[in-house]
Amino acid sequence: MSLPLVDLHCHIEGAADPAFVRACARRNRVTLPDGLFRADGAWACNDFLHFLRTYESACTAIRTARDYADLTYGYFSRAAARGLIYGELFISSVHPAEVGLSYPDFLDAIEDGYQRARTETGVEGRFILTAIRHLGPGRAGQTAQLAHKHPHRLVTGFGMAGDENQFAPKDFARAFAIARDAGLQLTVHAGEVCGPHSVRACLDALRPARIGHGVQAIQDAALVTRLADEGVALEVCPGSNIALGVYDSYEASPLARLRAAGVRVALGADDPPYFHTDIANEYARVQQAFGYDDASMLAISRDAIAAAFCDPTTRTALLQRLDEAAL
Ligand code: ADE
Ligand code: ZN
Repeated sequence: MSLPLVDLHCHIEGAADPAFVRACARRNRVTLPDGLFRADGAWACNDFLHFLRTYESACTAIRTARDYADLTYGYFSRAAARGLIYGELFISSVHPAEVGLSYPDFLDAIEDGYQRARTETGVEGRFILTAIRHLGPGRAGQTAQLAHKHPHRLVTGFGMAGDENQFAPKDFARAFAIARDAGLQLTVHAGEVCGPHSVRACLDALRPARIGHGVQAIQDAALVTRLADEGVALEVCPGSNIALGVYDSYEASPLARLRAAGVRVALGADDPPYFHTDIANEYARVQQAFGYDDASMLAISRDAIAAAFCDPTTRTALLQRLDEAAL
């Protein structure tokens, strides 16, 4: 059986491979800083903070509507060819603004790329407008305001990525209240590089429906029970965790223990070329590491669709595709 895949956690600029960014840099006459690539041409990132710096440098080359349309098309079409039926991309308004692309023009570009991929492959997708934590609550509030000012049918979520060590979740309560008021569903990166306290503080202050990563919750049994009881889904990205040194192997990821405790777990590729993975590889490696049968992998896709930031009609249609795959 070829498994229908769902990716609930992928960053748009994080889907850019070195060849794409080098081509953008040439086209846009941007000089990339030294040290961005390893000797073999792959992205250089030794640890979490180094990764964030590399990512932000790469963003300076991605500048035009065409760049963003091609990037979005590339992500959805490549992943669909590998079995993706539904994907959500984290988008930032900050990176386009820094290169002079307005938020409405940026939205038009990514919609164009997505629609081309959807027409060709039938893949379904949505976008999550994402604040960058280390830029602080003021910028996060401005990002949330954009959602109010420019509502878009494909932008259905609001999230926060960036350096989890900076600021406290309660500092972002206003930004998340604005986003909630704009009708967006909420997710926050937490428990990726910080411990369970980080996840708990997000749940208390921001009340998200999902947590990006959240794997460090495993260190606190009461928190795991809370995630299960409150139905908060985790977007787990084991390949990313391994690349950034959080775990040594797929087997060491707490994914299976979280699922066994009743926590809803979805998979994500996070920043696929940075972490030498894609969503199909994540499914395959998780299946192999935990000895899951195809029905268990379908159950992961089902949990992901249940937690997806889409409308009820789309959700029903996607669940039907999963049911058909199970026949
Ligand atoms: N931005 C892009 N990928 C990220 C990650 N894994 N954690 C935090 N911020 C990010
Ligand atoms: Zn992420």
